[in-house]
Amino acid sequence: MTRQLFVTTALPYANGKFHIGHIMEYIQADIWVRYQRMQGHQVHFVGADDAHGAPIMIAAEKAGITPQQFVANIAAGRKEYLDGFHISFDNWHSTDGVENHELAQDIYRGLRDNGLIEVRAVEQFFDPEKGMFLPDRFIKGECPKCGAKDQYGDSCENCGAVYSPTELVQPYSALSGATPVLRTSDHYFFKLSDPRCVEFLQQWTTEPGKLQPEVLNKIKEWFTKDEEGKGGLGDWDISRDAPYFGIEIPDAPGKYFYVWLDAPIGYLASLKNWFDKGGPAAKYGDTRSYFDFMADPAIEQYHFIGKDITYFHTLFWPATLHFSGRKTPDNVFVHGFLTVNNGEKMSKSRGTGLDPLKYLSLGMNAEWLRYYIAAKLNAHVEDIDFNRDDFTARVNADLVGKYINIASRAAGFISKRFGGQLSGDLGVEGRVLLDTLRAHRDTVTGLYETRELGKVLREIMALADRVNEYVDQNKPWELAKQAGQDAVLHDVCSVCIEAFRLLTIYLKPVLPKLAAQVEAFLQVEPLDFHSASRALGAHTIGTYQHLMQRVDPKLLEELFAAPEPEKVIPGGEDIAPEIKIDDFTKVDLRVAKIVKAETVDGSTKLLRLTLDAGEGRTRNVFSGIASVYKPEDLEGKLTVMVANLAPRKMKFGISEGMVLAASDADEKKNPGIFVLEPFPGAQPGMRIR
Ligand code: MSP
Ligand code: ZN
Repeated sequence: MTRQLFVTTALPYANGKFHIGHIMEYIQADIWVRYQRMQGHQVHFVGADDAHGAPIMIAAEKAGITPQQFVANIAAGRKEYLDGFHISFDNWHSTDGVENHELAQDIYRGLRDNGLIEVRAVEQFFDPEKGMFLPDRFIKGECPKCGAKDQYGDSCENCGAVYSPTELVQPYSALSGATPVLRTSDHYFFKLSDPRCVEFLQQWTTEPGKLQPEVLNKIKEWFTKDEEGKGGLGDWDISRDAPYFGIEIPDAPGKYFYVWLDAPIGYLASLKNWFDKGGPAAKYGDTRSYFDFMADPAIEQYHFIGKDITYFHTLFWPATLHFSGRKTPDNVFVHGFLTVNNGEKMSKSRGTGLDPLKYLSLGMNAEWLRYYIAAKLNAHVEDIDFNRDDFTARVNADLVGKYINIASRAAGFISKRFGGQLSGDLGVEGRVLLDTLRAHRDTVTGLYETRELGKVLREIMALADRVNEYVDQNKPWELAKQAGQDAVLHDVCSVCIEAFRLLTIYLKPVLPKLAAQVEAFLQVEPLDFHSASRALGAHTIGTYQHLMQRVDPKLLEELFAAPEPEKVIPGGEDIAPEIKIDDFTKVDLRVAKIVKAETVDGSTKLLRLTLDAGEGRTRNVFSGIASVYKPEDLEGKLTVMVANLAPRKMKFGISEGMVLAASDADEKKNPGIFVLEPFPGAQPGMRIR
């Protein structure tokens, strides 16, 4: 029976490029999808950018472009990664597409008609300068527990305390620096605490054989109320106030869906976009509309996601679908996190991350990574580690050493001695070996089906071991030297080629590009699992060309070499337009001694400095450094002064120059003012050139 599958991966936030964690998820899902297609099933594998939300809106504003332009720029970079790692999405779309706007609003109306939407007043921090409510992450202040400065509104990075933004001491807006004020606004809630929802989710999540056991355990925790009656399923705040980059809530002017409401609906939107474009019609002759397709009870729906977003996918999402009268997922497959080189956090600045594009640009084979990731994965929610030595060993010893080697040991004899033609009769021993390989087909497909990718590769490598034992026992290189052994040599090498073909079938979901090269070399139709049962017979194959290099450890060294330190321009201040040396020499900079420093009555910002620049007189200079220097810190020190600046009349007197100091354009991010001081030995009056 041909199955019809709708498969997705999580939709990545459109505020950055893909990292290796994303690629890992796509590789896992892609292998499963390719396996299903090789079984003859119809698969619609779709993804999309998760475009909405406050962080993207704010990032776009900083970049001086519209959020639409911002996410379009990110989207334009996706193909390079997806093609590069052979990820076979049928469609890639965006949660800002029209389909998503329509579907999200429709789903919302469904929930509302079911009496599951409630409006409640919520008090929240508002940035009076920006004129917007602030997401928790954009409110900073002192930790109420340990007093650490500049902590986020939800938790402290210093002591780990978790709190609400209103508990911060001296809170400020990370956007404008303004002190936020509390304001009340109407929010829209999805009433998940409604007994209908609780009952439905209890039943949905515990359907036998559905969710992974560890996922189910987590969900049980989420369902459970503690002794004080806290915890349990709470209602979900699904609205945000304008300005917000998102989808407008019907009949609620100025209100938008919170990004996590419309994000998973993006799965449906991408599928709909694929149907509207005629994809399924062209691929499978399926001319149904998206709506007819989704109304078919035979459709199976699966989502691959990482463990951090389990709550959204196993509670919010099925409830959203069910109570808007839609089909719910058949399953949600949760994976753990990928770390790199012993769990070092993926940090760009320390250069420990594995940059997917750098991997490709070094000419490293994408299928090495697919193979390695697959070898590490299982059906559980376990974290996995990319380890460079392990990577090299597995690719070189297993993939190349055991599998590729079979072809390279036999192919030369077939073309040189037998005109490229295989032997139709393979000898008893060879037939037994091949039968063993064929007999493992169902084990292999069973392991793919249940996403036990590490196990499937171990199974296949154990089969490759048997083939290599056969080669070692029959020694084709010796047979080739002996007179009258041509027929035996022909059989042995033909067995090897057929064995290699079978192993290639089994590995094809993991190594699609390599499999295509093998198909060309063997001169056969695209391999699928059914083609395992039909032997090649006296078939003529092409000439063997080396299929895969070993990993050179030097490549890994380069891959993990710290990137050239990025030019850090604190606060992102651009360098001023170019000038000529004459422009510079117009400014007369002199070493000056701070003879005296005093506070200024009526000003918290200014210090009055008396400077000696070796002119036989002193100068009076006001400097806006009172917030960071006490007069006694400065007296007697040397500094640098602009000596030919026109005197300026200020409220407190005339300023006859300017002292040089460094500061960040973004004062909130990098506070501080740093007065310049020359190296020891400089004398007042010396010119700086
Ligand atoms: N936009 C949301 C998902 C919305 S789905 C309707 C999101 N985006 S994300 O870009 O942060 O993450 C996308 C996927 O990548 C998630 O499944 C997440 O778990 C996964 N990963 C992020 N870092 C990862 C690793 N280090 N390792 C493996 N997967 C990781 O969440
Ligand atoms: Zn703290």
